[in-house]
Amino acid sequence: MWEYTETVTEHFQNPRNVGEIDNADGVGEVGSLACGDALRLTLKIEDGKIVDAKFKTFGCASAIASSSALTEMIIGMDVSKAETITNEDIASALGGLPKEKMHCSVMGREALEAALADFRGLSLPKADGEVVCECFGVTDVEIRRVVSESNLHSVEEITNFTKAGGGCGKCEEKLAELLHKTQSDGLRVIPLKQPSKRMTTLQKIKKIEEVLDREIRPGLRLDGGDIELIDVEGDTVMVSMRGACTSCFKSQTTIKEFVERKLREQVLETLVVEEA
Ligand code: FES
Repeated sequence: MWEYTETVTEHFQNPRNVGEIDNADGVGEVGSLACGDALRLTLKIEDGKIVDAKFKTFGCASAIASSSALTEMIIGMDVSKAETITNEDIASALGGLPKEKMHCSVMGREALEAALADFRGLSLPKADGEVVCECFGVTDVEIRRVVSESNLHSVEEITNFTKAGGGCGKCEEKLAELLHKTQSDGLRVIPLKQPSKRMTTLQKIKKIEEVLDREIRPGLRLDGGDIELIDVEGDTVMVSMRGACTSCFKSQTTIKEFVERKLREQVLETLVVEEA
């Protein structure tokens, strides 16, 4: 029998924010039913801030409590801050987890990371990793990440945090190699903000149109203007102003700066806006 803190028990018995957000801005799905744990996290994001979060999970009391605590932590939080949340933060919010259940906090962090990557149209670093544990589908990138973040010192700890090695045991030698390699590399963390793959132009256009519709057009239309997305070439976003906005876009930089700032915050930091 595991020893749970009162906070874990309370979240398990009264989980917050259970469900799914319609038309979510970011969706993160991790784990699988075959592995015994799965988590789906949906986020609503406005002005660079997480305004709502909901989860559905299949798993034990720790998985439910970790997901519930995670949603409470991130609602109202800036996306940039949410990107820095670690599994240790989630476990701390629960007053700790039994060591054998730390993988539930890792699952929470991975779901958050996946949802934010989805929001930004980025792929996850772990997607490029090589599967080391076939029983649980855990990659070398995930293992190195968790060894770094949680300062792990044994294969047993890796199993507690990722489940890798908890099945047939065939991968234990590789886990030991990865552990020693990560330690000798100085426990470097592999950050989310190093996307291995940039957004395609189609993905950029979709995200840009969403931001224009949600954040820019309503305000412009109040003043009798509008903005049209003409083209996207690399990081250059070409737009055309309509109606009352035509002259002000040329004479003032404020609207351009506003549009550029919104697109950089919510689509890609390197975007540049130009008038077509
Ligand atoms: S391959 Fe890792 S436990 Fe089976």
